[in-house]
Amino acid sequence: MDLQALRSEIEAEIAAAASLEALEAVRVAALGRKGRVTELVKSLGRLPPEERPKYGRLYNELKETLEQRIAERRKELEAKALEERLARERLDVTLPARERPQGRLHPVSQVSEEIVAIFADMGFSVAEGPDVEDDWHNFEALNIPPEHPARQMQDTFYLSSRDAKGQPLLLRTHTSPVQIRTMRAGKPPFRIIALGRVYRRDYDMTHTPMFHQVEGLVVDRRTHMGHLKGCLQDFVRAFFERDDIPVRFRPSYFPFTEPSAEMDIGCRRGKDELVVGEGSDWLEILGCGMVHPKVLEAVGLDPEIWQGFAFGMGVDRVAMLKYGIPDLRTFFEADLRWLRHYGFLPLEVPTSWGGLSR
Ligand code: FA5
Ligand code: MG
Repeated sequence: MDLQALRSEIEAEIAAAASLEALEAVRVAALGRKGRVTELVKSLGRLPPEERPKYGRLYNELKETLEQRIAERRKELEAKALEERLARERLDVTLPARERPQGRLHPVSQVSEEIVAIFADMGFSVAEGPDVEDDWHNFEALNIPPEHPARQMQDTFYLSSRDAKGQPLLLRTHTSPVQIRTMRAGKPPFRIIALGRVYRRDYDMTHTPMFHQVEGLVVDRRTHMGHLKGCLQDFVRAFFERDDIPVRFRPSYFPFTEPSAEMDIGCRRGKDELVVGEGSDWLEILGCGMVHPKVLEAVGLDPEIWQGFAFGMGVDRVAMLKYGIPDLRTFFEADLRWLRHYGFLPLEVPTSWGGLSR
């Protein structure tokens, strides 16, 4: 067997291999389990013992040389493959590194977080109550007896199921029942807000059958109207991010507060626009007042010791005003173009120190 010839032949094959796959095929044919060189090494056993060391050394040298040639050729081919890839592939460095998030936060979600951030800074904690309420929490404990005209004032959605007293359950018409639940569950003083959905038979540019309110309740030993006014004024300035926001308090009536008031924000309202702080229109954003002694009694508090103020604000209304959205009904039409226009980027969480609404 002419080792020299075998070596030249395989070396020529290695040099001719044009790809990593072709090179691998050459390697297997020479050095694989049944390769030509491997077979030679295996045949050593058939040689006379005195010749084995000499041929053993020769075969090993051949094997090592070929392994080295293959490794060199592999390096060349890898470099060539990389060159080709670099020439072929293009990277557009002007593209943004990350895709922009596609989703948007609904203005109600954004504004809810803004409201919670502001009241949290004022020392309020967040309370919750159910959407499906019973008559006692939604009306009776709030000093609204069955024959009271306020029950018509807030046209109610009743459910077919009834509570333990046989009264029909209902979708809460305001967040005020959370006042009752909070005062029954804890001990005064109280300083809470409660934000959530409420339901009424209502439908026009500024009314929808489902909307959102945020309730506020402060109960302490010396709470008065001045605290209520100051608290709401501070809130409105922080929320609209300006100090000159036109505000007016109007005397009003709620069975569960005495005295009662409503607060309006000055604005200009047209068919396709809503601008806060301009023009001569007013939009009502909340009802408020001093907690009625009968409400305190209903939850077992002595009105001679404890006084409180409360308010209930339309979350959707303040969202309309702040972000200039003229028709409330569009909030709940689930129109993607509307959401892209009025929605917010999900990763920007509002805080009063980092900015509410960048
Ligand atoms: C109430 O619901 C009282 N519970 C508020 C309150 C709480 C008074 C605590 C005193 C003490 P009113 O029905 O006015 O009040 O509603 C409060 C606010 O909810 C309104 O000022 C308005 O901003 C908003 N609102 C009322 N109805 C709708 C509606 N259909 N769609 C959107 N927002 C509404
Ligand atoms: Mg009202």
